[in-house]
Amino acid sequence: MLVAWALSLVNPAPLRLRRRGYVRQSGLLHARSRRCRAAWAPHLTRARGAIVAAAEATAKRGSVVVLGSGLLDDVPLDALANLFDRVILVDAVHPWPARLAARRYGNVACVTAEISAGLTGGDLPDICTDADLIVSANLLSQLPIVPIDAYEAKGREAPLRLGTQIVETHLAALDRLAAGTGRICLITDTVQREEDRAGRVTDRLDLIFGVALPPPAEAWDWEIAPFGEIDRRRRLIHRVHAYPDWRAARR
Ligand SMILES: C[S@@+](CC[C@H](N)C(=O)[O-])C[C@H]1O[C@@H](n2cnc3c(N)ncnc32)[C@H](O)[C@@H]1O
Repeated sequence: MLVAWALSLVNPAPLRLRRRGYVRQSGLLHARSRRCRAAWAPHLTRARGAIVAAAEATAKRGSVVVLGSGLLDDVPLDALANLFDRVILVDAVHPWPARLAARRYGNVACVTAEISAGLTGGDLPDICTDADLIVSANLLSQLPIVPIDAYEAKGREAPLRLGTQIVETHLAALDRLAAGTGRICLITDTVQREEDRAGRVTDRLDLIFGVALPPPAEAWDWEIAPFGEIDRRRRLIHRVHAYPDWRAARR
């Protein structure tokens, strides 16, 4: 908690996004990612591999946009910077390690934006329309968190379909982009299961609010909270879907 709090103080972000809670969320994620480094490693390797496969399959390599770039843990920045003329990292918060990593390349830029589920606002629509590859990097299930938390912080219940609408709107935005010429790569966690030490599933949570996804090209488990992270006797596992070619998956 202390690490997450310290990170949320030092990580730069516009006041508007800080007030909404994105910096706090980013700090929590950062701290957990470091505590659970070993458990997360197989997931991060698979996610980076799916992104590299999508990048190598992209014929025209002018620009690549990474939505939800965050800590760059699942983003193969070196490969993208070598394969594409320009790499544009988009997130509400670019933590310091990601900023420093981006500065090592002359062709990598960080764009700070609240990716409203519809990819509207500022230069975002143009950046995305012009891109040869757009990667939605473990972002989809995160999009509803801050908006739903905002209701709960005021002691109110979020509208019943808010999460579903946010997820559907992001997918509709990817569908619209897929109608253009660029390739779309979507990686997202879909379902959380809680397991006890005997391997019994004790709880399940739909992370994408009932929205149906097509069969993935690849799927794997991400042990997001190993035993001891949230409870000695329980662990949390997310099922991740990867679509290196979202257009093909939607056909
Ligand atoms: C689970 S992380 C993705 C992992 C990230 N690709 C990495 O390698 O660290 C989700 C990211 O989505 C970002 N995010 C969540 N909601 C957002 C929103 N509405 N607009 C912009 N970024 C958002 C968070 O700041 C966070 O960096």
